[in-house]
Amino acid sequence: MPLIGVVGCGRVGVSAALHVLLKELGDIVLIDIIQGLPQGEALDLSHMASILGIDVEVTGSNDYRDMAGADLAVITAGIVRRADMTRLDLLQKNTSIVSDVAEKIREHAPSSNVIVVTNPLDAMTYVALRKTGFERERVVGFSGLLDFGRFRYLVARELGVSRSSVIGPIIGEHGDSMVLLPRLTHVLGKPLTSLLTAEKTSELVEKTRRAGAEVISLKGWSASHAPGAGVALMAEAIIKDTNAVIPSSVYLRGEYGVDGVCVVVPVVLGSSGVRGIIVLDLDESERREFLKSVETVRQAQETAEKMLR
Ligand code: LAC
Repeated sequence: MPLIGVVGCGRVGVSAALHVLLKELGDIVLIDIIQGLPQGEALDLSHMASILGIDVEVTGSNDYRDMAGADLAVITAGIVRRADMTRLDLLQKNTSIVSDVAEKIREHAPSSNVIVVTNPLDAMTYVALRKTGFERERVVGFSGLLDFGRFRYLVARELGVSRSSVIGPIIGEHGDSMVLLPRLTHVLGKPLTSLLTAEKTSELVEKTRRAGAEVISLKGWSASHAPGAGVALMAEAIIKDTNAVIPSSVYLRGEYGVDGVCVVVPVVLGSSGVRGIIVLDLDESERREFLKSVETVRQAQETAEKMLR
């Protein structure tokens, strides 16, 4: 049975564990520094599994030794965003938290794949990569499924088609400069650019960019159901070795003409992590938008890097 460690027992960590549990991908260990919290959440999830007849072990611990040898580590630990904060406001605090967590993962789960969920996502993916010292293929950031899922929700509603019929990539930062690609997004081969006006498309893109903050301002805390479901899809690709193509933050080494930055692009995900990076044929304006987004991430990453030294 594979072992999946989820570090950080906030709402996102617990939601990710819940969805991983429903998919029966493996046994789950929840880790948090707060005494009792991971143990209590694990017990509650175990009762849930029992009701559903799922025979997966869920345990909670304050000690990383309990995730020894994990196949997959999911990092959700960190402080979360309030409505008046950007994801980059979290940079300083979360760099130190993720750096710490990454060192523990390196020590106790040295052959694991890592999915990073903590914000600011792309910079934290870099921090985890640096501090685990793992090869870039084994450290990916979650966000593309979340942001594209939000866009897909709006587009499907607008067009009156099922959500799963709307397919497309998303690239760039998990943040205000994220890049949706209407020209490459389609409903069974028909591009969005021929289905919606440019005005309507920009409206939906803007709404997607603001969706995370909208959730926070409405319910008072950050999204958790949607992130949890998305993380489990990435976990499934890795644990079941499906080679699913999933937009994920990954350290680029020349792909897209970008070197040395973690940013979201479509990747092929399997048991060895990133099996391949899909390089899209961007037009001039898409490329410009993407490179601008990369610069935003590069600056955040450089700030984080200075803190690591
Ligand atoms: C969101 C935050 C959590 O997009 O990044 O919901």
